[in-house]
Amino acid sequence: MKTAITLEELRSARAMLPEPVGFVPTMGYLHAGHISLVERARQECTSVVVSIFVNPTQFGPHEDFAKYPRDLPRDFAQLQAAGVDLVWTPTPEIMYPPDFQTWVIVERLTAPLEGAHRPGHFRGVTTVVAKLFNAVQPQKAYFGQKDAQQAAVIRQMTRDLNYPIEIVVCPTVREADGVAMSSRNTYLNPEERRAATVLFRALNAAKFAYEQGEREAETLRRIMREVIESEPLARLQYVSCADFETLEELEWVEGKALLSMAVFIGQTRLIDNLILE
Ligand code: PAF
Repeated sequence: MKTAITLEELRSARAMLPEPVGFVPTMGYLHAGHISLVERARQECTSVVVSIFVNPTQFGPHEDFAKYPRDLPRDFAQLQAAGVDLVWTPTPEIMYPPDFQTWVIVERLTAPLEGAHRPGHFRGVTTVVAKLFNAVQPQKAYFGQKDAQQAAVIRQMTRDLNYPIEIVVCPTVREADGVAMSSRNTYLNPEERRAATVLFRALNAAKFAYEQGEREAETLRRIMREVIESEPLARLQYVSCADFETLEELEWVEGKALLSMAVFIGQTRLIDNLILE
């Protein structure tokens, strides 16, 4: 496995890789969810590139950038075992030199849900992903369904900016009790970790109602709210039952829909979602 830090190192290592190249952008502190993306890329592409960069511009001023977990030696060992060809770990100075002033903004799709509660978050995500795409020039890029809005926004950006890259969205990987894998789960103490199961329980309660024939979106949102409110350690930020493509809130579920939520468990903000189809 080759490693690169500077853009020059990345470009010369990338030039040696047989195509198609599959790319998995990450912020490190890898878990089974990331490794599932690498494995999918490994199956579908001749070469696999992974980036590890905790992107400061996608964190709000009061968010967890400073304390975001980092462990490069552990990440490298996992990526080596997964058969990755090249790992790129740029520094903040490489990605954002002092005179940096160009941003990529996807407009409508970033307005609701995460965008409404994390101002500037998606501007940071799309800008860094565009820069990563420009440098790595992959044929395919892999993202998790866990960050459903991020996947939709990146797909839109890829279309709008004519990147010749196929965006592949892979299923959420869950722990045995249903909690979605996330680097942020490491913030939870044992009691909070138990309480974190409430997100998947709430999503499943709404999905069950949908499967029983319930089609009123507000009823599905109410079911999710009630389950979250039954957990004393949980504080709901939002629940949503939205159109899968536009992410606009629905009145009635007719086509494919996205159930999603953000919930604080103690100080830790967790998100999760399920698709209704
Ligand atoms: O999903 C993530 O880990 C990040 O948002 C990404 C796509 C690597 C951009 O920093």
